[in-house]
This record gives sequence, structure tokens and C-alpha cells, in this order.
Amino acid sequence: MPLMEPYRVKVVEPIPILTRAERETAMERAGYNPFNLRAEEITIDLLSDSGTNALSAAQQAAGALGDETYAGARSFFRFRDAVEKLTGYPQIMPVHQGRAAERILFNALLTPGQLCVSNTHFDTTRANAVLAGATPVDLPCAAAADLDSAAPFKGDIDLDRLTALLTGPDRDTVGVVIMTITNNGGGGQPVSMANLTAVSRLCREHGVPFFLDAARFAENAWLVIQREDGYSEHTPEQVARLAFDLADGAVASLKKDAIAHMGGFLALRDEALAQRCELMLTATEGFRTYGGLSGRDLEMLAQGLHEVVEPDYLRARASATQHLADLVNKAGVSIVEPAGIHALYLNAGRLLPHLPPNRYPGHALATELYLAGGIRCAELGSLYLGEEDEDGNMVKPAPYELVRLAIPRRVYTQSHLEYVAEVLAEIAQHPERVPGYRIVEAPALLRHFNCRVEPVRD
Ligand code: F0G
Repeated sequence: MPLMEPYRVKVVEPIPILTRAERETAMERAGYNPFNLRAEEITIDLLSDSGTNALSAAQQAAGALGDETYAGARSFFRFRDAVEKLTGYPQIMPVHQGRAAERILFNALLTPGQLCVSNTHFDTTRANAVLAGATPVDLPCAAAADLDSAAPFKGDIDLDRLTALLTGPDRDTVGVVIMTITNNGGGGQPVSMANLTAVSRLCREHGVPFFLDAARFAENAWLVIQREDGYSEHTPEQVARLAFDLADGAVASLKKDAIAHMGGFLALRDEALAQRCELMLTATEGFRTYGGLSGRDLEMLAQGLHEVVEPDYLRARASATQHLADLVNKAGVSIVEPAGIHALYLNAGRLLPHLPPNRYPGHALATELYLAGGIRCAELGSLYLGEEDEDGNMVKPAPYELVRLAIPRRVYTQSHLEYVAEVLAEIAQHPERVPGYRIVEAPALLRHFNCRVEPVRD
């Protein structure tokens, strides 16, 4: 099988190519915050792999068959059958996107004061646990702390700490264990089947519900096939199913691995819990046969779930990310090793040692990628996670200063990715020229979305 995209292009969309001066004007207007840029100002958009995917001809055709009947639409049953075939769960609810499933599940499952335990919560999962009155606890495995280690499953949960929690004084307060596959907050690293199996066994032993946050279930399955003993002859669909079999249910954003623009599901086994969830679904998302989605969406999602587990598609996507990782490494830029599939996480702290955390090296690199090449991406460092005192002095920097290059599915070609590596290589030739940033204006919460910053050379 040649390493190339297993599809050809039928519809194209021009991408804007701006001059450096135009990009500088755009960034200044945006308060040096990439979230404030407009699409027509961006050449390559690596902000997110969520909802940014390219549809197949088959998905577009399926969309045309969308049945927009209010209740009992044909499209719902196609969607339900696709999710049931994939997961084996009997209770399936569509939702408009992943965070809606998190909100509904946690409100039905958790009581205030309980712990919500994860390998690493994604931001919205954490926020929804907090909003349900619970305390989120992340237990990433020890290998995850070494960004350079090539350990194959750095997305795993720390089983010793999980066991200690489930047998220690707080054992009765654990309301749920939720494993994020792949671990987006943890460098996009996969979770092994051995780890999921052990978590499942522990949860069963201690009577704790075990859920998956399965946004990138197919990409996790592919990395299991490549990296874990005993799975090389399995299909991605089989590995995904084995993972779902281990849990009591799953929430999923289908904006990722259903290769679509909108959608999600909440799927589970327990009928009584499903009934409580369904009440909330009807009150806040929509009736159980559409859950906030149109018939057209449901059709395209069902088809996307079928396409995403095709080995040729996953092989090509994984090798495109690896190709970018090789070029980035060659340019002297470190990433969180080993490369996963949906994104590369650049080690901006190492590339820009002249910038301390309160000059936001991750943000500085992300901004420079835009100024130098029109590439948009997001920092995952002290602008996002750092804590300052009332006078604005950094009291707790983020553990790492990273930049995430998220790769939309089927959107960019190899030459687009090579362009990204070239721009990064140019920056890496003179990293000392990259200025730091200072916050000018920031809201109390979720500041990385809304803050305004300015360059500072000190
Ligand atoms: N869980 C994970 C692991 C995610 O990565 C996301 C979204 C969600 C849940 C929430 O899903 O957006 O459909 O409500 N991640 C996007 C990203 C936003 O860019 O990584 P949603």
C-alpha cells in the first residue's frame, strides 16, 4: 500500500494567502489572540480537528437522504444502528456535540462532592464535572511527564494511583472513572487496551461506573494495532469494540472521528440511568430521535462512522502526522513524543528558552507561526493554564509550554503539511527573535479564548 491519501479531490476551496504586512495588521486587530482571527485571514488552520473535517461524496449523498421528521425519523435509526454496531451499547442518544453528552451524563450520574476521575479530562469534561458539583481528578501515568520519552501509551491512567484512590479513605466518593481516548489533554497520546482492561476490572471490583470519552476512538484503535502486542491482526473496528465492551458507556464528540461537522452521542447500558439522561436530553437538546441534530447530520454521521474505521484511511492519516513530526524534528523543534494522530504538540518552552512563563512562550510561537506563514494554532501553556496573583505576577506556570498543531481530517495535503514544517523551520533558525507577550486584558474565566495581549521585548 503506497503511503498517500486514499482519496482524490472533487471539490476545492481556495485558501487565503496574505502578505506579512496584512497578517501583522490582522494580528494586531485580533489583540494577538488567534481565536480572534477571521477565516479569510488564515492560510492553514490548525486550531482544531473538531468539526473541521472534509466530507466524502458518500456522506454528502447520505445527507441528501436526511429525513427531517420530528420524531421517529429514518435518519435516527440509521444513526442508532451505526452507533450500536460500533459500541454494542443498547441505549443510544444523539446530542449536538460532545459536551452536551458530558453535561447530561454527569448531571444524571454524579452527586455534589463526588470525584470524577480520569487519565486527563478534556476542558469541557472538567467544566461539566465541576458544574455537576463534582471534583475532577486527573491521574496521568508517570511516563506522560517525560515529553521526550517514546513510550507507546503515554495516554494511560496511573493504575497505582487509581487503585490507591479506590481503596483509600476517599473510595466512597468516586462517582465515575472516565478515560479519554486518545488523551487530548495529554499530548494526544493513546491509551492501551491493557490499561483500559485494568481500569475496567478495578471499577467493577469497586462498583464504580466506568465511561469512555471516545472522541478519537478510531485513532486510538489504530495506535493500539500499531503499538500493542496481540492486536496487529485486529481491525480498527474490532479494537474499538473491545474498548467499548470494557466500559459501562461512552460520551463522544462526533466532530472528530465521525469525520463530520457537528454531532455527538451518549451511549450506555444501564436502562435506569438512560431514562434519567433522556429526561435531560429532551428538556435541553431535543427529542430522543434527534437530540439537537438534523436528519441530514444523523445520516452523515452514520456514514462517517463507517469510513473512519477503514484501515487505509487511518494508515494515511497516521503517516501524514508522522511525516510532519519527522520534518519538525529535522528542523530542530521538539514535540511531545511519540507523535500521535490528531495533532502534534510542539515544545515551545524548549525552543524559546529566552521567554519565561510570564512571557508565554507557547503563545509567542503560535503567534509567530501566524505572522510568518498564516498558520493558526493554539497554545497549551501558561496563557491557558498558568495562574497569576492579583498584581499579575505568575505564581503557578503551566507544567509545559506547548503549542498544538491539530490536523483536520482529509482537509490538507502533504504539501500543505510540508509548508507548515518549512515555516516552523524558518522560525527555528532564529528563535531568539521571537518576542514574548504580556496580557493587556483578560476575563476571569477561559481567558485564552478572549484575552488581548501585546508583544513585549525585554
Ligand atoms: N472530549 C475530548 C477529548 C475533546 O477533544 C473534545 C473537544 C470534547 C470532549 C468536547 O467535544 O467540542 O464536541 O463539545 N475537543 C475540541 C478540540 C474542541 O479542539 O480538541 P465537543
